[in-house]
Amino acid sequence: MSFTITGTGSCLPAFTVQNDDFTKFVDTSDEWITTRTGIRRRHFIKDETLSQIAVEASQKALENAGLAAADMDLILCATLQGEDVSPSLACLVQAELGANCPAFDLNAGCSGFLYALHSAAAYFRAGMANHILIVCAEQLSRFLDWKDRSTCVLFGDGAGAVVLSRGDSLLTVRTGARGQRENLQVPGRNVSGPFWHDTEKSRSLLSMNGREIFKFAVTTVQNEIESAVKDAGLTADDVDYFLLHQANGRIIDSARTRLHQPEEKFPGNYEECGNTSAASIPLLLDELNRNHRLKKGDILLLCAFGAGLTWGSCIIRWEKN
Ligand code: UT7
Repeated sequence: MSFTITGTGSCLPAFTVQNDDFTKFVDTSDEWITTRTGIRRRHFIKDETLSQIAVEASQKALENAGLAAADMDLILCATLQGEDVSPSLACLVQAELGANCPAFDLNAGCSGFLYALHSAAAYFRAGMANHILIVCAEQLSRFLDWKDRSTCVLFGDGAGAVVLSRGDSLLTVRTGARGQRENLQVPGRNVSGPFWHDTEKSRSLLSMNGREIFKFAVTTVQNEIESAVKDAGLTADDVDYFLLHQANGRIIDSARTRLHQPEEKFPGNYEECGNTSAASIPLLLDELNRNHRLKKGDILLLCAFGAGLTWGSCIIRWEKN
């Protein structure tokens, strides 16, 4: 016994930034960003807060599931960092929803949604939950180095949520990690004070070796998809939709080409949202659900990779009408 997805929800901040807007402060162009990544615009939190968008995505997911906050046995929030270091974002969401259940954050970089699904599966298998709310909410804009053209154009903010209920739709879920700092790092701290000072100026901001992460991403996605379909006793042809982490259109195209699968099976939101880290797959899932693109019985393969380094994949049968 594992789970089935009974509801999805999402929330994007109102403020959008076009590729051309970056040309005002870094040496870049719409043409470079579009051809190298496929990204055209992204949303940044300006007039909202991270907890507000997380709550809105969660409320929509609960409504879509036809369940109340009081029905939840756990709230799991995947985020690089919540609104505050403490309390956790999950606790802020729990309070705002009026839920009465345990709540905690997990950080697995862009693979956070897969890690949350894996953790939730263990709760269901242990008989510890009937309903779990997962909300993935990210505010990467807080960590971007606006002088670094190779990273500031790539990311966006957003929140996506799912409600999971006891069921049998999970065919496989896998997660993995290979800890390292050098290719992708968000220190997120400024250590200065009367007794010490930080020598690195931009120590709190995101830095990435894009080429190395690109290679890691292409290999990981390929390996994970192959392993996941094998675990589930399927082939890639049996999969109706591949929902891959939305970091770069070229990474998705590479997976599609290697798998010899049609473009329609690889929906995307990177053009409109950029890379929203852990929120990218649940945002995409909600869009497909709201647009009635998913049919009961569809096989969905989810696959993500990211900072940590981490990765994860999952195959789920869609059971909603
Ligand atoms: O979710 C977390 C995981 N992150 C990712 O998956 C990101 C993976 N990596 C990527 O998506 C790509 O590596 C990038 C989009 C980050 C970069 O694309 P690339 O084709 O690998 O470019 P590159 O890093 O090899 O850079 C090529 C050139 C460089 O100039 P030179 O050295 O050839 O003169 C860069 O300085 O492009 C330059 N460049 C830019 N030019 C204009 C880098 N960023 C920009 C920019 N505008 N924004």
